[in-house]
Amino acid sequence: MGKLRSVLKRILNPSRDSHREQKLRQLQRRLMYWKESILGGGRLREAILIKLLEQHYNSKFRRQWVLSEEPPHFFDQRIGFFQFAFCQKDYGPYAFFRGFYNSEILHQGDRLLDIGCGDGFFTRRFFAERCVHIDAIDIEPGAIKAAITYNSAPNITYHLLDAVKQPFPNDIYDVIVWDGAMGHFSPDTTHLMLQKICQSLAQDGVFVGSESLGIEGSDHLQYFHSLNDLYQIFKPYFKYIELRCANYRIGSGGVIRQEAYWRCANDPRRLKEGHWQEFSTAESTNFKSVEKG
Ligand SMILES: C[S@@+](CC[C@H](N)C(=O)[O-])C[C@H]1O[C@@H](n2cnc3c(N)ncnc32)[C@H](O)[C@@H]1O
Repeated sequence: MGKLRSVLKRILNPSRDSHREQKLRQLQRRLMYWKESILGGGRLREAILIKLLEQHYNSKFRRQWVLSEEPPHFFDQRIGFFQFAFCQKDYGPYAFFRGFYNSEILHQGDRLLDIGCGDGFFTRRFFAERCVHIDAIDIEPGAIKAAITYNSAPNITYHLLDAVKQPFPNDIYDVIVWDGAMGHFSPDTTHLMLQKICQSLAQDGVFVGSESLGIEGSDHLQYFHSLNDLYQIFKPYFKYIELRCANYRIGSGGVIRQEAYWRCANDPRRLKEGHWQEFSTAESTNFKSVEKG
């Protein structure tokens, strides 16, 4: 009876009823908003949390790099990403170019090997989405521990492994990445590594990577001064070689970092697909030559 009455009421007075419902929904939304603000916090809480996290990462950096007996051979990229995303300091996106460039040539379902994966930041954030499986290898236990802790994914297997002395985890890969690590290998082992890389690449596979140019890194065993240095190293192994260089400022001291990026293959198909996205908005970024074999 009561239900019938309410239906009749709605038919006889539709506008008043829907107006009341609208008001009710508005009030509900406002209450939910206040609840969210109290539980989730407003701008003040956000500012406090960012400050705390900034202090945490700054302290982590000091402990790892300034105060430790032996600093790690890899960078905790979360520190840099946090600086880039949330801090007022002059910190550009340049350190992440390698991730964008490498992911440009990935295909859905690729099998990827990441040599010297460090903390696995690039492995997880840039490569894992498209790949069916990734083997990420590093010789440093701290790197593999950080990678498993912060950058795990179901399709990534992290291996504590010496890339020179031990076989790669699988026989064939579509993409092999060697990012920011070549300088950590001696010239002799570099050639051994390139032989191994060639043997492990699928027929249309691509070898990609990046390394700083000039004297950088006290733990480096070799330095490269120009794109041509790298070109000469890759030439005996690959028919098609593309090299690029970005110059960018790091820190507030005005240090210019030159970073080289490469794509090498013996089948040109994949190289034609990638177009080297230009990040040209920053004045400190200057892309130079592309060399082709
Ligand atoms: C500067 S980090 C680069 C990390 C990561 N690829 C990136 O781009 O952030 C170089 C890494 O190479 C690793 N490495 C050096 N020699 C190696 C070897 N023989 N086998 C495997 N990894 C090695 C180091 O432990 C280090 O984590």
